[in-house]
Amino acid sequence: MKPFPGTIGGFARAATLWMLTLGSVAAARQDVAPAPATEAPKAGRAGADGKNAKTKTKTKTKGRRDRPGYYMGRPIADVMSWRGAEWLFRETRIDEEQPEAMLDALEIAPGSTVADVGAGAGYHSIRLARRVGPKGTVLAADVQPEMLQLLRANARTAGVENIKPLLATQRDTKLPDGKVDLILMVDVYHECSDPDVLLAGLLKALKPGGRLVLVEFRGEDPEVPIKPEHKMTLKQVRLELEPQGFRFQKSLEFLPWQHVIVFEKPKPDEKPATPDTAAP
Ligand SMILES: C[S@@+](CC[C@H](N)C(=O)[O-])C[C@H]1O[C@@H](n2cnc3c(N)ncnc32)[C@H](O)[C@@H]1O
Repeated sequence: MKPFPGTIGGFARAATLWMLTLGSVAAARQDVAPAPATEAPKAGRAGADGKNAKTKTKTKTKGRRDRPGYYMGRPIADVMSWRGAEWLFRETRIDEEQPEAMLDALEIAPGSTVADVGAGAGYHSIRLARRVGPKGTVLAADVQPEMLQLLRANARTAGVENIKPLLATQRDTKLPDGKVDLILMVDVYHECSDPDVLLAGLLKALKPGGRLVLVEFRGEDPEVPIKPEHKMTLKQVRLELEPQGFRFQKSLEFLPWQHVIVFEKPKPDEKPATPDTAAP
């Protein structure tokens, strides 16, 4: 599957123009250049994970027993800065993450309302917009205004008009209550500093029977060339989501490096998952 014609070029143009307004091209290039990897490079991929440009995350742990910066025993990763956004549109991502095959597997109906939470520069929002079509809507939420600015420019270049950007906070995605058919979070959840508050909001935003899909690099696999705090195990994901009222539906494992983990919001007459039935 080919990337959007013109989108990467458009992205580069928009980003360059924008950075020119902020400073020199040299400074902009330096911003997006990946820093040395902390892991051994694997087949030329490690260290290019674009995640060395960081935005510091403040972690509120009041009422939780975790030490600062942890949630249910897991270290919370720093937010990936917009300065590394070019990495999100790298050409190799098509093979590494197979975004179209991933979205095919979710069988998204035309006309539906989907949310791309942690949308970044719109890599998936644009694909989602095409799938839901003119009668559907994509709510693209991100905590970084700069990411949303890039997303707007990319959507314009791609010619899609049904994306609504939402400036989120770590505790509020700004999604409307009870209106969303599917929430997609690709490579985002592990960066969220207040998972319990965030998840409560996501549950509220979904229609009954609506789905929350987390795509996360496999924490079980040491060969996946991403830093450990940017990966998650299926067991940990279930441990964190099921007590929050999400029902585990399935985990799809056909992507080279990532889990595609599907949860549902139970309908009113259905039993939610409880901590007792959570992750084996
Ligand atoms: C690694 S990037 C992935 C971007 C996009 N999903 C993609 O696959 O191209 C993670 C994004 O999540 C955003 N983010 C982190 N925590 C968030 C939160 N609690 N709510 C919304 N966005 C968040 C970051 O600002 C960043 O743009």
